[in-house]
Amino acid sequence: MSDRATVTVRSARFIAFEGGEACGKSTQAARLAARLGAVLTREPGGTQVGARLRAVLLDNETRLTDRAEALLMAADRAQHVAEVIRPELASGRHVVTDRYAGSSLAYQGFGRGLPLDEVRLLSAWASDELWPDITVLLDVPLEVAAARRAGSQRDRLESAGDDFHRKVVEGFRTLAAADRDRWVVVDGRLGIDEVEAMIWAAVSERCPELADVPAPAPAPSAAPAGAAPAPAAPADG
Ligand code: TMP
Repeated sequence: MSDRATVTVRSARFIAFEGGEACGKSTQAARLAARLGAVLTREPGGTQVGARLRAVLLDNETRLTDRAEALLMAADRAQHVAEVIRPELASGRHVVTDRYAGSSLAYQGFGRGLPLDEVRLLSAWASDELWPDITVLLDVPLEVAAARRAGSQRDRLESAGDDFHRKVVEGFRTLAAADRDRWVVVDGRLGIDEVEAMIWAAVSERCPELADVPAPAPAPSAAPAGAAPAPAAPADG
């Protein structure tokens, strides 16, 4: 039997981070999870099986059709939702995930050109209709992402070419614009601390019950007021 009904009345929140390559979302997902005491997880690769799927999906030697790629992402999501996300939410813990269904829509839908409604249906079936309360999009122009990635080794998806990645970045913007209630867009070119503050403001506005969580204590090595601004987000996904 589906436990969808349980999840409908849950108080634990499910928050996803999305964005193109090197947008800084992994850093921000970790910061928000730490602040909320949430479970931090990711896709693909949030389970043991998922880690194996991730290795196949990102390996430059792997030859996959677009549909096979979409199905492997969906298989990873099905396992992740059943094994990690739903049980954690049901136990009352908030869950923060580094990528979720938005990535399938942006990469397999907009990027590869698979029909969006079919990609959405696949995620709906894989997750048994579990959608994030909030999806945070870290928006970074392609040129900025490329500069951050310069010199680093590229996996199969990172090597997919500028045209593909432009469609992905624009796809994310289109998805966010179509669902302003559930998507939050933050300019990922800003400094790490500034991005974190903007995400916190947006999340606590949409989920006021989270606003009571105390602000993190400044790190011991934090620069004094008036010093140079925090560095830009690193080249993490
Ligand atoms: P990352 O999480 O380390 O950024 O890398 C995961 C890669 O997988 C990234 O290129 C985006 C891609 N991806 C999809 O294409 N579809 C999906 O549904 C998910 C979750 C990720």
